[in-house]
Amino acid sequence: MRRMNIILIIITVTFSSVRSQTQNLSPRYILENDNDVVSVSSSPLLPQPLMIPLTLIHGAVSKGAVCLDGTLPGYHFHPGSGSGANSWLIQLEGGGWSNTIRSCVFRKTTRRGSSKYMEKQLPFTGILSNKAEQNPDFFNWNRVKVRYCDGASFSGDSQNEAAQLQFRGQKIWLAAMEELMSRGMKNANQALLSGCSAGGLASILHCDEFQSLFPKSTKVKCLSDAGFFLDATDVSGGHTLRNLFGGVVNLQEVQKNLPKSCLSHLDPTSCFFPQNLIDHVQTPLFLLNAAYDAWQFQESLAPHSADPHGSWNNCKSNHANCNSSQIQILQNFRNQMLNDIKGFSTTSQSGLFINSCFAHCQSERQDTWFADDSPLLNNLPIAVAIGNWFFDRQVVKAIDCAYPCDNTCHNLVFK
Ligand SMILES: *[C@@H]1O[C@H](CO)[C@@H](O)[C@H](O)[C@H]1NC(C)=O
Repeated sequence: MRRMNIILIIITVTFSSVRSQTQNLSPRYILENDNDVVSVSSSPLLPQPLMIPLTLIHGAVSKGAVCLDGTLPGYHFHPGSGSGANSWLIQLEGGGWSNTIRSCVFRKTTRRGSSKYMEKQLPFTGILSNKAEQNPDFFNWNRVKVRYCDGASFSGDSQNEAAQLQFRGQKIWLAAMEELMSRGMKNANQALLSGCSAGGLASILHCDEFQSLFPKSTKVKCLSDAGFFLDATDVSGGHTLRNLFGGVVNLQEVQKNLPKSCLSHLDPTSCFFPQNLIDHVQTPLFLLNAAYDAWQFQESLAPHSADPHGSWNNCKSNHANCNSSQIQILQNFRNQMLNDIKGFSTTSQSGLFINSCFAHCQSERQDTWFADDSPLLNNLPIAVAIGNWFFDRQVVKAIDCAYPCDNTCHNLVFK
Protein backbone atom coordinates (compact mmCIF):
# COMPACT_ATOMS: atom_id res chain seq x y z
CA MET A 1 0.00 0.00 0.00
CA ARG A 2 1.50 3.33 -1.02
CA ARG A 3 -1.20 5.31 0.69
CA MET A 4 -0.24 6.94 3.93
CA ASN A 5 -2.41 9.36 5.77
CA ILE A 6 -0.57 11.78 7.96
CA ILE A 7 -2.42 12.14 11.21
CA LEU A 8 -2.21 15.63 12.57
CA ILE A 9 -3.09 15.79 16.20
CA ILE A 10 -4.22 19.24 17.13
CA ILE A 11 -4.34 20.07 20.78
CA THR A 12 -7.68 21.69 21.43
CA VAL A 13 -6.33 24.02 24.08
CA THR A 14 -3.78 25.51 21.68
CA PHE A 15 -6.39 25.83 18.98
CA SER A 16 -8.95 27.65 21.05
CA SER A 17 -6.47 29.94 22.78
CA VAL A 18 -5.07 31.08 19.44
CA ARG A 19 -8.56 31.42 18.03
CA SER A 20 -9.71 33.62 20.87
CA GLN A 21 -6.98 36.10 20.01
CA THR A 22 -7.56 36.20 16.29
CA GLN A 23 -10.17 34.41 14.31
CA ASN A 24 -8.25 34.74 11.10
CA LEU A 25 -5.03 33.20 12.18
CA SER A 26 -5.75 30.07 14.11
CA PRO A 27 -6.33 27.29 11.57
CA ARG A 28 -3.72 28.74 9.25
CA TYR A 29 -1.18 28.84 12.01
CA ILE A 30 -1.70 25.20 12.76
CA LEU A 31 -1.78 24.05 9.16
CA GLU A 32 1.45 25.77 8.38
CA ASN A 33 3.29 24.74 11.45
CA ASP A 34 5.43 22.09 9.79
CA ASN A 35 7.07 21.29 13.08
CA ASP A 36 3.80 19.80 14.30
CA VAL A 37 3.63 17.55 11.28
CA VAL A 38 7.20 16.44 11.72
CA SER A 39 7.03 15.91 15.44
CA VAL A 40 3.81 13.92 15.32
CA SER A 41 4.34 11.79 12.27
CA SER A 42 7.87 11.66 11.04
CA SER A 43 10.61 12.38 13.51
CA PRO A 44 10.66 8.93 15.15
CA LEU A 45 11.35 7.44 11.70
CA LEU A 46 13.93 9.90 10.38
CA PRO A 47 17.46 10.86 11.42
CA GLN A 48 17.81 14.34 12.89
CA PRO A 49 17.53 16.87 10.07
CA LEU A 50 20.15 19.48 9.32
CA MET A 51 19.53 22.52 11.57
CA ILE A 52 20.47 25.94 10.18
CA PRO A 53 20.82 29.06 12.35
CA LEU A 54 18.90 32.30 11.83
CA THR A 55 20.88 35.27 10.46
CA LEU A 56 19.45 38.75 10.97
CA ILE A 57 19.95 41.32 8.22
CA HIS A 58 21.73 44.08 10.12
CA GLY A 59 21.78 46.57 7.29
CA ALA A 60 18.02 46.34 6.92
CA VAL A 61 16.87 49.14 9.26
CA SER A 62 18.58 51.87 7.23
CA LYS A 63 16.69 50.54 4.20
CA GLY A 64 13.39 50.59 6.08
CA ALA A 65 13.18 46.81 5.72
CA VAL A 66 11.69 45.68 9.02
CA CYS A 67 9.16 43.19 10.37
CA LEU A 68 5.68 44.31 11.46
CA ASP A 69 7.03 45.30 14.90
CA GLY A 70 10.13 47.08 13.58
CA THR A 71 12.59 44.25 14.31
CA LEU A 72 15.20 43.03 11.81
CA PRO A 73 14.20 40.52 9.13
CA GLY A 74 16.21 37.32 8.78
CA TYR A 75 17.06 34.21 6.84
CA HIS A 76 18.68 30.80 7.19
CA PHE A 77 21.56 29.99 4.82
CA HIS A 78 23.44 26.77 4.09
CA PRO A 79 26.28 27.23 1.58
CA GLY A 80 26.55 25.15 -1.58
CA SER A 81 29.50 22.94 -2.47
CA GLY A 82 31.08 21.10 -5.38
CA SER A 83 28.99 21.30 -8.54
CA GLY A 84 26.39 23.34 -6.63
CA ALA A 85 28.76 26.07 -5.41
CA ASN A 86 27.36 28.64 -7.87
CA SER A 87 23.73 27.51 -7.77
CA TRP A 88 21.20 29.22 -5.50
CA LEU A 89 17.83 28.12 -4.17
CA ILE A 90 15.81 30.79 -2.36
CA GLN A 91 12.75 29.73 -0.44
CA LEU A 92 10.33 32.39 0.77
CA GLU A 93 8.64 31.29 3.97
CA GLY A 94 4.83 31.19 4.14
CA GLY A 95 2.35 31.64 6.97
CA GLY A 96 -0.95 33.31 6.04
CA TRP A 97 -1.56 37.06 5.94
CA SER A 98 -2.72 39.80 8.25
CA ASN A 99 -5.52 41.85 6.76
CA THR A 100 -6.61 44.12 9.63
CA ILE A 101 -4.91 46.34 12.19
CA ARG A 102 -6.05 43.92 14.86
CA SER A 103 -4.68 40.79 13.20
CA CYS A 104 -1.40 42.57 12.36
CA VAL A 105 -1.03 43.79 15.96
CA PHE A 106 -1.52 40.21 17.12
CA ARG A 107 1.01 39.02 14.54
CA LYS A 108 3.66 41.29 16.09
CA THR A 109 3.64 38.91 19.06
CA THR A 110 4.47 35.89 16.86
CA ARG A 111 7.38 34.66 14.69
CA ARG A 112 5.34 35.78 11.68
CA GLY A 113 5.58 39.42 12.65
CA SER A 114 8.73 39.79 14.73
CA SER A 115 12.21 38.28 14.65
CA LYS A 116 12.12 38.35 18.47
CA TYR A 117 9.92 35.26 18.28
CA MET A 118 11.54 33.45 15.36
CA GLU A 119 13.11 30.05 15.92
CA LYS A 120 16.87 30.53 16.26
CA GLN A 121 17.39 27.57 13.95
CA LEU A 122 15.20 25.65 11.51
CA PRO A 123 15.37 22.13 10.04
CA PHE A 124 16.31 22.01 6.34
CA THR A 125 14.24 19.18 4.87
CA GLY A 126 12.72 18.33 1.49
CA ILE A 127 13.89 20.82 -1.15
CA LEU A 128 16.23 22.33 1.48
CA SER A 129 17.88 19.03 2.47
CA ASN A 130 21.65 18.66 2.01
CA LYS A 131 21.45 14.92 1.29
CA ALA A 132 21.38 13.60 -2.27
CA GLU A 133 19.12 10.71 -1.22
CA GLN A 134 16.55 13.23 0.08
CA ASN A 135 16.95 15.99 -2.49
CA PRO A 136 18.54 14.64 -5.67
CA ASP A 137 18.99 17.86 -7.69
CA PHE A 138 19.39 20.71 -5.20
CA PHE A 139 21.17 19.10 -2.23
CA ASN A 140 24.54 20.76 -2.84
CA TRP A 141 23.22 24.18 -3.91
CA ASN A 142 23.39 27.28 -1.76
CA ARG A 143 20.02 27.02 0.01
CA VAL A 144 18.27 29.87 1.78
CA LYS A 145 15.01 30.20 3.68
CA VAL A 146 13.93 33.84 3.95
CA ARG A 147 11.72 34.41 7.01
CA TYR A 148 8.24 35.88 6.57
CA CYS A 149 7.40 38.67 9.01
CA ASP A 150 5.40 41.25 7.03
CA GLY A 151 2.01 39.54 6.61
CA ALA A 152 1.56 40.47 2.91
CA SER A 153 3.59 37.91 0.94
CA PHE A 154 6.72 40.15 0.93
CA SER A 155 4.80 42.74 -1.10
CA GLY A 156 3.43 45.56 1.07
CA ASP A 157 4.92 49.00 1.59
CA SER A 158 3.17 51.16 4.16
CA GLN A 159 2.85 51.81 7.88
CA ASN A 160 0.33 52.59 10.59
CA GLU A 161 1.81 54.85 13.21
CA ALA A 162 -1.09 54.70 15.66
CA ALA A 163 -0.81 50.92 15.90
CA GLN A 164 3.01 50.96 15.57
CA LEU A 165 2.93 48.70 12.54
CA GLN A 166 5.44 48.57 9.72
CA PHE A 167 4.28 46.99 6.47
CA ARG A 168 7.56 46.52 4.66
CA GLY A 169 7.38 43.23 2.81
CA GLN A 170 8.69 44.63 -0.45
CA LYS A 171 11.65 46.24 1.30
CA ILE A 172 12.39 43.01 3.20
CA TRP A 173 12.44 41.15 -0.10
CA LEU A 174 14.88 43.67 -1.57
CA ALA A 175 17.13 43.76 1.51
CA ALA A 176 17.30 39.97 1.57
CA MET A 177 18.21 39.80 -2.11
CA GLU A 178 20.89 42.49 -1.68
CA GLU A 179 22.40 40.64 1.26
CA LEU A 180 22.43 37.32 -0.62
CA MET A 181 23.92 38.91 -3.74
CA SER A 182 26.76 40.18 -1.55
CA ARG A 183 27.18 36.70 -0.05
CA GLY A 184 27.87 35.22 -3.50
CA MET A 185 24.53 35.01 -5.28
CA LYS A 186 25.81 37.60 -7.77
CA ASN A 187 28.02 34.83 -9.19
CA ALA A 188 25.16 32.37 -9.62
CA ASN A 189 25.00 30.50 -12.89
CA GLN A 190 21.62 29.06 -11.96
CA ALA A 191 18.97 30.11 -9.45
CA LEU A 192 15.51 28.99 -8.37
CA LEU A 193 13.09 31.17 -6.39
CA SER A 194 10.62 29.03 -4.45
CA GLY A 195 8.18 29.34 -1.61
CA CYS A 196 5.13 27.70 -0.14
CA SER A 197 1.65 29.03 0.63
CA ALA A 198 1.88 32.81 1.24
CA GLY A 199 5.53 32.30 0.18
CA GLY A 200 4.35 30.50 -2.96
CA LEU A 201 2.27 33.53 -3.84
CA ALA A 202 5.34 35.69 -3.13
CA SER A 203 7.46 33.60 -5.50
CA ILE A 204 4.96 34.36 -8.31
CA LEU A 205 4.81 38.06 -7.38
CA HIS A 206 8.61 38.42 -7.29
CA CYS A 207 9.58 35.98 -10.05
CA ASP A 208 10.47 38.51 -12.73
CA GLU A 209 12.16 40.84 -10.21
CA PHE A 210 14.29 37.86 -9.14
CA GLN A 211 15.23 37.13 -12.75
CA SER A 212 16.20 40.78 -13.28
CA LEU A 213 18.88 40.52 -10.56
CA PHE A 214 20.96 38.32 -12.82
CA PRO A 215 22.59 38.59 -16.23
CA LYS A 216 20.85 36.85 -19.15
CA SER A 217 23.42 34.03 -19.01
CA THR A 218 22.10 32.87 -15.60
CA LYS A 219 19.43 30.19 -15.72
CA VAL A 220 16.62 31.54 -13.52
CA LYS A 221 13.29 29.88 -12.77
CA CYS A 222 10.58 30.07 -10.08
CA LEU A 223 8.55 27.49 -8.18
CA SER A 224 5.27 28.20 -6.45
CA ASP A 225 4.26 25.46 -3.99
CA ALA A 226 0.65 25.64 -2.73
CA GLY A 227 0.60 29.27 -3.82
CA PHE A 228 -2.18 29.02 -6.36
CA PHE A 229 -4.96 30.63 -4.33
CA LEU A 230 -8.21 30.68 -6.29
CA ASP A 231 -10.62 33.59 -6.26
CA ALA A 232 -13.24 31.07 -5.15
CA THR A 233 -16.86 31.30 -4.09
CA ASP A 234 -17.28 29.76 -0.65
CA VAL A 235 -19.97 27.28 0.36
CA SER A 236 -22.36 30.06 1.40
CA GLY A 237 -21.90 32.00 -1.85
CA GLY A 238 -19.51 34.57 -0.34
CA HIS A 239 -15.96 35.48 -1.29
CA THR A 240 -14.01 34.83 1.89
CA LEU A 241 -10.54 34.84 0.36
CA ARG A 242 -11.23 37.87 -1.85
CA ASN A 243 -12.30 39.74 1.30
CA LEU A 244 -9.14 38.66 3.11
CA PHE A 245 -6.89 39.58 0.17
CA GLY A 246 -8.71 42.90 -0.25
CA GLY A 247 -7.88 43.75 3.36
CA VAL A 248 -4.22 42.81 2.94
CA VAL A 249 -3.83 44.77 -0.31
CA ASN A 250 -5.52 47.91 1.04
CA LEU A 251 -3.98 47.91 4.52
CA GLN A 252 -0.44 47.23 3.33
CA GLU A 253 -0.63 49.19 0.04
CA VAL A 254 0.37 46.18 -1.98
CA GLN A 255 -0.82 47.77 -5.24
CA LYS A 256 2.47 49.72 -5.37
CA ASN A 257 4.23 46.45 -6.10
CA LEU A 258 1.74 44.59 -8.27
CA PRO A 259 2.43 44.27 -12.02
CA LYS A 260 1.26 47.25 -14.07
CA SER A 261 0.28 44.84 -16.82
CA CYS A 262 -2.40 43.45 -14.48
CA LEU A 263 -3.43 46.75 -12.83
CA SER A 264 -4.13 48.24 -16.26
CA HIS A 265 -7.20 46.03 -16.61
CA LEU A 266 -8.06 44.69 -13.12
CA ASP A 267 -8.45 46.06 -9.58
CA PRO A 268 -5.51 45.62 -7.15
CA THR A 269 -7.16 42.81 -5.16
CA SER A 270 -7.69 40.79 -8.34
CA CYS A 271 -4.02 41.34 -9.17
CA PHE A 272 -3.04 39.61 -5.89
CA PHE A 273 -4.63 36.38 -7.18
CA PRO A 274 -2.23 34.10 -9.06
CA GLN A 275 -4.84 33.29 -11.72
CA ASN A 276 -4.51 36.93 -12.88
CA LEU A 277 -0.71 37.02 -12.53
CA ILE A 278 0.68 33.88 -14.11
CA ASP A 279 0.10 34.98 -17.69
CA HIS A 280 2.16 38.13 -17.02
CA VAL A 281 5.21 36.28 -15.62
CA GLN A 282 8.00 36.18 -18.21
CA THR A 283 10.37 33.93 -16.26
CA PRO A 284 9.79 30.15 -16.36
CA LEU A 285 7.42 29.22 -13.54
CA PHE A 286 6.39 25.87 -12.05
CA LEU A 287 3.10 25.46 -10.19
CA LEU A 288 3.06 22.66 -7.62
CA ASN A 289 -0.37 22.44 -5.99
CA ALA A 290 -2.80 19.91 -4.61
CA ALA A 291 -6.07 20.19 -6.55
CA TYR A 292 -7.92 20.03 -3.21
CA ASP A 293 -5.39 22.22 -1.37
CA ALA A 294 -6.03 21.59 2.33
CA TRP A 295 -5.61 25.23 3.36
CA GLN A 296 -7.91 26.56 0.66
CA PHE A 297 -10.51 23.90 1.43
CA GLN A 298 -10.54 24.87 5.10
CA GLU A 299 -10.12 28.64 4.86
CA SER A 300 -11.45 29.70 1.47
CA LEU A 301 -14.00 27.13 0.28
CA ALA A 302 -15.62 26.03 3.55
CA PRO A 303 -14.39 28.41 6.27
CA HIS A 304 -16.18 28.56 9.59
CA SER A 305 -17.67 31.97 8.71
CA ALA A 306 -19.39 30.43 5.66
CA ASP A 307 -20.51 27.33 7.57
CA PRO A 308 -21.43 28.55 11.07
CA HIS A 309 -23.28 25.32 11.95
CA GLY A 310 -20.23 23.24 11.13
CA SER A 311 -21.91 20.92 8.63
CA TRP A 312 -18.57 20.72 6.79
CA ASN A 313 -16.47 19.96 9.86
CA ASN A 314 -16.27 16.19 9.45
CA CYS A 315 -15.49 16.47 5.75
CA LYS A 316 -12.90 19.18 6.41
CA SER A 317 -11.11 17.13 9.02
CA ASN A 318 -10.96 14.03 6.82
CA HIS A 319 -11.90 13.87 3.13
CA ALA A 320 -13.09 10.28 3.66
CA ASN A 321 -16.06 11.74 5.61
CA CYS A 322 -17.32 13.91 2.73
CA ASN A 323 -20.66 13.00 1.18
CA SER A 324 -21.39 13.07 -2.53
CA SER A 325 -22.59 16.69 -2.65
CA GLN A 326 -19.52 17.86 -0.78
CA ILE A 327 -17.24 15.90 -3.13
CA GLN A 328 -18.99 17.57 -6.05
CA ILE A 329 -18.16 21.00 -4.61
CA LEU A 330 -14.54 19.91 -4.24
CA GLN A 331 -14.53 18.69 -7.85
CA ASN A 332 -15.85 22.07 -8.96
CA PHE A 333 -12.98 23.69 -7.07
CA ARG A 334 -10.49 21.48 -8.92
CA ASN A 335 -12.19 22.26 -12.23
CA GLN A 336 -11.85 25.97 -11.54
CA MET A 337 -8.14 25.50 -10.81
CA LEU A 338 -7.59 23.56 -14.04
CA ASN A 339 -9.52 26.15 -15.98
CA ASP A 340 -7.44 28.98 -14.48
CA ILE A 341 -4.16 27.35 -15.58
CA LYS A 342 -5.28 26.47 -19.09
CA GLY A 343 -3.48 29.26 -20.93
CA PHE A 344 -0.43 29.02 -18.68
CA SER A 345 -0.09 25.28 -19.27
CA THR A 346 0.31 25.74 -23.01
CA THR A 347 3.41 27.96 -22.72
CA SER A 348 6.63 26.12 -23.43
CA GLN A 349 8.51 27.15 -20.27
CA SER A 350 5.82 26.44 -17.71
CA GLY A 351 5.78 23.41 -15.44
CA LEU A 352 2.89 21.80 -13.57
CA PHE A 353 2.37 19.17 -10.88
CA ILE A 354 -1.29 19.29 -9.82
CA ASN A 355 -2.02 16.15 -7.84
CA SER A 356 -5.49 15.20 -6.60
CA CYS A 357 -4.60 15.22 -2.92
CA PHE A 358 -5.70 16.97 0.27
CA ALA A 359 -2.31 18.48 0.99
CA HIS A 360 -0.57 21.83 1.43
CA CYS A 361 3.16 22.55 0.97
CA GLN A 362 4.59 19.41 -0.58
CA SER A 363 8.14 20.63 -1.35
CA GLU A 364 9.23 21.45 2.21
CA ARG A 365 8.34 18.16 3.79
CA GLN A 366 10.58 15.19 3.19
CA ASP A 367 7.74 12.65 2.99
CA THR A 368 6.03 14.48 0.13
CA TRP A 369 9.13 15.83 -1.65
CA PHE A 370 11.18 12.65 -2.05
CA ALA A 371 10.81 9.41 -0.12
CA ASP A 372 10.10 5.75 -0.82
CA ASP A 373 6.35 6.31 -0.71
CA SER A 374 6.09 9.98 -1.72
CA PRO A 375 3.26 11.16 -4.02
CA LEU A 376 3.67 10.35 -7.72
CA LEU A 377 2.30 11.68 -10.97
CA ASN A 378 3.19 9.85 -14.18
CA ASN A 379 5.36 7.70 -11.90
CA LEU A 380 7.56 10.63 -10.89
CA PRO A 381 7.94 11.98 -7.36
CA ILE A 382 7.70 15.77 -6.97
CA ALA A 383 11.47 16.25 -6.52
CA VAL A 384 12.24 14.46 -9.80
CA ALA A 385 9.48 16.22 -11.74
CA ILE A 386 10.74 19.64 -10.62
CA GLY A 387 14.38 18.71 -11.27
CA ASN A 388 13.49 17.48 -14.77
CA TRP A 389 11.73 20.77 -15.48
CA PHE A 390 14.46 23.00 -14.02
CA PHE A 391 17.24 21.29 -15.96
CA ASP A 392 15.15 20.94 -19.14
CA ARG A 393 15.47 17.16 -19.05
CA GLN A 394 11.76 16.79 -19.74
CA VAL A 395 8.58 18.79 -20.28
CA VAL A 396 6.55 18.45 -17.06
CA LYS A 397 2.84 19.29 -17.26
CA ALA A 398 1.46 16.73 -14.86
CA ILE A 399 -2.23 16.99 -13.99
CA ASP A 400 -3.81 14.19 -12.00
CA CYS A 401 -7.13 12.53 -12.68
CA ALA A 402 -9.90 13.54 -10.26
CA TYR A 403 -10.27 12.22 -6.70
CA PRO A 404 -10.22 9.39 -5.71
CA CYS A 405 -7.94 8.02 -8.42
CA ASP A 406 -4.58 8.81 -6.77
CA ASN A 407 -3.46 6.30 -4.16
CA THR A 408 -0.05 7.92 -3.60
CA CYS A 409 -1.31 11.01 -1.73
CA HIS A 410 -0.14 11.99 1.74
CA ASN A 411 -3.43 13.55 2.75
CA LEU A 412 -3.64 15.81 5.75
CA VAL A 413 -6.11 14.53 8.30
CA PHE A 414 -7.11 16.68 11.27
CA LYS A 415 -8.37 15.22 14.51
C1 LIG B 1 -24.09 16.25 2.56
O1 LIG B 1 -23.88 16.95 3.79
C2 LIG B 1 -24.40 18.27 3.82
C3 LIG B 1 -23.97 18.91 5.12
O2 LIG B 1 -24.31 18.13 6.23
C4 LIG B 1 -25.91 18.25 3.63
O3 LIG B 1 -26.41 19.57 3.62
C5 LIG B 1 -26.20 17.56 2.29
O4 LIG B 1 -27.60 17.44 2.12
C6 LIG B 1 -25.56 16.17 2.25
N1 LIG B 1 -25.75 15.61 0.91
C7 LIG B 1 -26.07 14.33 0.70
C8 LIG B 1 -26.19 13.90 -0.73
O5 LIG B 1 -26.23 13.55 1.61
